[in-house]
Amino acid sequence: MKIAILTGAGVSAESGLGTFRDKNGLWTRYDLNEVATPEGFALNPALVHDFYNARRANCAEASPNAAHVALAQLAETAHDITLITQNVDDLHSRAGSLNVVHMHGELMRALCASCGARWDAPLVMDPSDACPSCGAATTRPDIVWFGEIPYHMDAIAEAVERADLFVAIGTSAEVYPAAGLVELARGQTLEINLEASARANAFDDHLFGPATEVVPSWVAELS
Ligand code: OAD
Repeated sequence: MKIAILTGAGVSAESGLGTFRDKNGLWTRYDLNEVATPEGFALNPALVHDFYNARRANCAEASPNAAHVALAQLAETAHDITLITQNVDDLHSRAGSLNVVHMHGELMRALCASCGARWDAPLVMDPSDACPSCGAATTRPDIVWFGEIPYHMDAIAEAVERADLFVAIGTSAEVYPAAGLVELARGQTLEINLEASARANAFDDHLFGPATEVVPSWVAELS
């Protein structure tokens, strides 16, 4: 079976990485316009780097959980899996998933706003860092900010359209275009989340509960 999976912050929540919109979520404590937009970065790059430096440190200390591990194991079965994530952490890869499609970029990568070069981010980034390729001090985290176009959208749309099953895991479905992917699905659709998301009605089936419990049991049933 061809399965396209979209994950969100809920899949990493039990690894100790905060979600965005839950109680105490990151966007209840930080102004996303200040730290997650190109305009915010232009205004105060040090503040934005501080924010992502803290996220990078949290991520480096965190470990993949049972949901990440189960999804990596699913790819070792006969099913044809495309794993798409909105998460900028690297926990899917560290659990063993290959070819993870990072539609919102990656915390552990840096991008030069001048020449487009990409490289492994140091743990701590700073506005004065020079691009290793062109030398300009215009380096930024390789993160898709609000107002920017998510990465790999053509490949993602194709994978969702051709899938027999589309599964969204741990996402509030508040952010587009990720939240609209379910509309492209022609096969069955399943939402796995703690609670009904904003787009719950668009899914055929639902499994509610913590990702570390629900995802491994769903994977075990499919394998
Ligand atoms: P949100 O924080 O908006 O939503 C997290 C979802 O996970 C909620 O629906 C929770 O109910 C659910 N959840 C929390 N803990 C869970 C658990 N243990 N098991 C299962 N589900 C759980 O995060 P996203 O939907 O991923 O973008 O947010 C989407 C995008 O908004 C992010 O990629 C980020 C953010 O702004 C950018 O920064 C560009």
